[in-house]
Amino acid sequence: MVGLTLLPRPPKSGLVKTARNTGQANSLNLAKGHHNLVYDSQVKAETDALYQRVNKVISPLEWPAFAPLIAAINRLKKERDAVILAHNYMTAEIFNCVGDFRGDSLGLAREAANVSAKVIVQAGVHFMAETSKILSPDKMVLIPSLEAGCSLAASITGEDVALIKQRYPGIPVVTYVNTTAEVKAQSDICCTSSNAIQVVETLAREWGVDQVILLPDEYLAKNVAAQTKIKILAWGGKCEVHERFTPDDIAEIRASHPGAVILAHPECPPEVVAVSDFTGSTGAMSDYVEVHRPKKVVLITECSMSDNVAVAHPDVEFIKPCHLCPHMKMITLEAIYDALLTLRYEVVLDPVISARAKKAVDAMLALPSAPAGIFDPTRAVPSHLELI
Ligand code: 13P
Ligand code: SF4
Repeated sequence: MVGLTLLPRPPKSGLVKTARNTGQANSLNLAKGHHNLVYDSQVKAETDALYQRVNKVISPLEWPAFAPLIAAINRLKKERDAVILAHNYMTAEIFNCVGDFRGDSLGLAREAANVSAKVIVQAGVHFMAETSKILSPDKMVLIPSLEAGCSLAASITGEDVALIKQRYPGIPVVTYVNTTAEVKAQSDICCTSSNAIQVVETLAREWGVDQVILLPDEYLAKNVAAQTKIKILAWGGKCEVHERFTPDDIAEIRASHPGAVILAHPECPPEVVAVSDFTGSTGAMSDYVEVHRPKKVVLITECSMSDNVAVAHPDVEFIKPCHLCPHMKMITLEAIYDALLTLRYEVVLDPVISARAKKAVDAMLALPSAPAGIFDPTRAVPSHLELI
């Protein structure tokens, strides 16, 4: 528990177990549906070109297990008028073979605001699906697994933010998109790891203040604080994946892989950022590889990210000391197939909360597009940060 005396956490919000969501309204036998999908000559013909895309990271032995589901999902997408928004942490077969739009949290939010299809399937976690629903309230937004949460989103509630605002009146509240709709609804603006520095500085300027509340990721807040003169009031949330990396891990990688370029995500502890070569959002890491083409690279982040960047850059060697996000990994081809077949699990938001949350997300999207914010340890300034 961090700082304040707070109300107990409410149950996970944003997903309503309707008859459709529990599958009771649908008489289809999903397990049987999967068994009926086989790797035959038609599936092979439909998916051969996709396999060429991923053959560096998926073995020919594995492919026959994926291909029938991939073919079925791509057919169902057309029937349902659906698109799949795939986050960089999706496994390679999802990201590259069924994802229609791929990218980091900011990129996917921008896509969600402009999608013309009737159905959005979020190949990512709950908070991302909620963001899509907030931005496209008239669309049906589906999250393929109810287990796809996020330790950061679970670390803070809307009530917590309301209490913080009472305690610190006049100080703007920036919340990371890795939060529930209730938390966004209490915020002045959202940010992602791609634009956090820009958002903090813009908001401080607009409000004429020298301090900003940045919730809920303690490490992101510390990494932002090291790049700005604005004082940051931070919460103690952590990403359960990125908090596991240590400076010793980086030292070991450098010893065993001399010359490898080390790229880290800003949800990592600041001590890890300080000894990495570059720190940025998943999108910024991907761009770094695209622009600099290092011979050998290490992505200090979720495991699937390396495979997805490797698909686009077969000439780069990826060393993979990584940790899996158990929530992201709940999204499988089977779960996406079931989601499209039975239209589950639909994200349903309270319209009042959704409208308030939309103001915070829209405020972020209205900022001029800037190159992804880089957390450069060589340009670190003395940071002013207080945990609240
Ligand atoms: P990005 O905004 O960098 O895509 O990160 C999202 C996330 O969940 C990182 O853990
Ligand atoms: Fe949340 Fe971390 Fe998983 Fe991203 S990697 S979804 S921040 S738990």
